[in-house]
Amino acid sequence: MRDITLLSIFDHRITQKYVKRSGMAHAIAAAYHAFNLSKEYKVNPDLATKAAFLHDIGHYTWYKDGKWDYELYKQNDIHAIKGAERAHKLLIRLGEHPKKAKKIALAILLHTDSYLPDGEISLDPLQKVVALADEMDEEPSGNHHYRQIDDERARRLIARLDHMIDNHLNNQKASS
Ligand SMILES: [Fe+2]
Repeated sequence: MRDITLLSIFDHRITQKYVKRSGMAHAIAAAYHAFNLSKEYKVNPDLATKAAFLHDIGHYTWYKDGKWDYELYKQNDIHAIKGAERAHKLLIRLGEHPKKAKKIALAILLHTDSYLPDGEISLDPLQKVVALADEMDEEPSGNHHYRQIDDERARRLIARLDHMIDNHLNNQKASS
């Protein structure tokens, strides 16, 4: 059983404000990739899609003289840290189980190593799925953050993904 749907996350004003800022089209594409990858990596699609959908919720933009400054961003970015905290707060507020909210927040925290000191960290399968889902939708020079999608289509795609997850989980239950 899922505690909350992607649609309830999508409809929340915090999601609308921050996920739109970092790119709703990218967030939805990453969530679909995460759904497909979750079968391959045998991780819970509920957690994988939520983490992928919210992975960039902590983004903010770095501008200098009105222009996006990639160097400034690279030096100072902590969007994964901010995003993990912001997503966790949102999920708990919406009624997500604290255990799941923690797993989702951790996957968001580790979806990129751009802010980490050099060195290897080993990701668990859920964290790997979310990082891969993000990578699969990346475009050169961060263009994936600017791809547009209208609200109605975005909402429809999210509702469709909810159905796909429910069907998948029901089928899994039936065959176990
Ligand atoms: Fe991303």
